[in-house]
Amino acid sequence: MGTPQTNLNTGPHSGLNASLKASQVGLAATASNRQPTFLMCPPTHYEVNYVINPWMSGNVHRSSRERAAQQWDQLHAALRQIAQVLLVEPQPGSPDMVFTANAGLVRDGIVALSSFHHPERQGEEPHFRRWFHESGFAVCDIPRMTPFEGEGDALFEAAGERLWAGHGPRTRQDSHRRLTELWDVEVVSLRLVDPRFYHLDTCFCPLSNGDMMYFPAAFDDESQRKIEARYGRSKRITVSEEDALQFACNAVNVGRTILLNTVSKELCARLEARGFQTVQVELTEFLKAGGAAKCLVLRLSEMDVTHRA
Ligand code: ARG
Repeated sequence: MGTPQTNLNTGPHSGLNASLKASQVGLAATASNRQPTFLMCPPTHYEVNYVINPWMSGNVHRSSRERAAQQWDQLHAALRQIAQVLLVEPQPGSPDMVFTANAGLVRDGIVALSSFHHPERQGEEPHFRRWFHESGFAVCDIPRMTPFEGEGDALFEAAGERLWAGHGPRTRQDSHRRLTELWDVEVVSLRLVDPRFYHLDTCFCPLSNGDMMYFPAAFDDESQRKIEARYGRSKRITVSEEDALQFACNAVNVGRTILLNTVSKELCARLEARGFQTVQVELTEFLKAGGAAKCLVLRLSEMDVTHRA
């Protein structure tokens, strides 16, 4: 990926200097790093103690921190086999900080920092901001008026040429324009209509070979047409409702490896037939908060590095 020519002065809310370019910002621990790199947050303070999505209702104070720690360790260990994993320090009072995918969206040494929809998660913002700043990323703020929940709602296509961006339950569609401006990239907006799939990464997963896995019923008709127009039939891997509810689409794809919660044998076989190796990690404790593998991980390396591995 070349040096970005994007003007980072994205308005009065931007913390960025107009002339700042990613090439001048020390290229973030990772962008200059040619190995797949991700950010995770240990579940030290993880619990379900408020309800901001349907998965959490009925699960308040019902998660086991000990089991969560074991499951997180397994995911962390599995990811470390194939990538570098950096950690951000967990903060008391921010139980969902473990879901680092919501911290922001990274490209070219720049992070579009999330502006959470729910006050319950807004306290995470300064902690993530500090981490990105100290790690050498240029931080671009997204205004509070137009909530944006990072990689939870914005996923680059295989080679990074197009950005798929969800909106509805959390992210506001108006925030997508900022992403277009920031990276000069085509943004395709998708409307999420099923409250169980409240973030794009719960129901849509672009894969390294140009295929894509998704649960169509999570999108309105127009969005389904957009997806079909860009991914031919043979490229679309449709996931059953049962697998979707196991967070099958909430998968971390590094090269030919796919890390995900336990899903059906049938789905694994379909992915393997396309040349992927699947690694299943039981993540039941995190499902109680509405998250699984992908939510627990934020991509820091560029798409061509992450997907080429
Ligand atoms: N409890 C968290 C929330 O509702 C879960 C976040 C899941 N993250 C994700 N990338 N889908 O915000």
